[in-house]
Amino acid sequence: MFYSPLRYPGGKGKLAPFMELMIDELGHRGGTYIEPFAGGAGIAIELLERNVVGQIVINDYDKGVWSFWKAILSETDRFVECLNNVPLTVEEWNRQRKICLTQNKKYSFQLGFATFYMNRTNRSGIIKGGIIGGLNQTGNWKMDARFNQEELSQRITNIAARKGDIKLYNKEIGSFIKTYIPKYEENALIYFDPPYFGKGKQLYMNFFNLKDHERIEAAIRNSVNGDWIITYDDAPEIAHIYDGYSVRKFDLNYSVANKRRASELMFFKNGIAIPSNMLLEENRIAINLR
Ligand SMILES: C[S@@+](CC[C@H](N)C(=O)[O-])C[C@H]1O[C@@H](n2cnc3c(N)ncnc32)[C@H](O)[C@@H]1O
Repeated sequence: MFYSPLRYPGGKGKLAPFMELMIDELGHRGGTYIEPFAGGAGIAIELLERNVVGQIVINDYDKGVWSFWKAILSETDRFVECLNNVPLTVEEWNRQRKICLTQNKKYSFQLGFATFYMNRTNRSGIIKGGIIGGLNQTGNWKMDARFNQEELSQRITNIAARKGDIKLYNKEIGSFIKTYIPKYEENALIYFDPPYFGKGKQLYMNFFNLKDHERIEAAIRNSVNGDWIITYDDAPEIAHIYDGYSVRKFDLNYSVANKRRASELMFFKNGIAIPSNMLLEENRIAINLR
């Protein structure tokens, strides 16, 4: 079951059952779930719609991603109407792409919609992926392959029905951690999913260097009192920054049949309980519970 209307490369939706276990273990059922790097916010939306938590706080610094969330929450009917009537043609794709590339400095409904359009018609959901099926639309999959209007309208309507329980921000991570997390961190689980160390550059429009990753760790250490988790790709530089925190390796595509090396790392605030029934092998978490 998918809840988010946005596709995200490496989208963490599959972690939702794990987050639910963490929330129970920490006694935060009915409380708040915070994603400071929200992107498609797949986990957050699922936890809210299944009433695991009563409120979610989502933040993304990207003006396009933020405009998408703001547009579906504040102009839902208009968004759904556009979604059902927009042409799925290369000409339209070029028009929407231009909006994403040129009108991305402040909120607009058009930018929110264009971000969504690109996300659903590009390979892997990313601008740099290029249109599904190619500019001549000769591939096996065409640009409408991920654009099921009825299904996407439903997801958007379901989210908007809960807008009173959704707090949305467009802050740079440093300021979000320092100023906004303290408002919500009581009875909350915070899940940081920053752009990855190795892959971030290719995948997202914003990317971080090593200093930025160090800055995030310092900000969390200095300002966050609530319960938090952060995930990263398995890179020695990241393991070094988070040396001293509890860590588990995990693999979002792990299956018993395919025992490949876990490729991602999850670090935990010191001292928080990690659900023991999530340990498949020592230091390893099985994520695909479904
Ligand atoms: C790895 S993605 C999150 C994916 C998300 N967990 C999902 O499953 O869809 C990282 C997100 O962080 C956002 N971001 C990048 N730099 C940021 C910054 N300095 N402050 C806040 N958000 C930022 C990006 O726009 C991107 O949406």
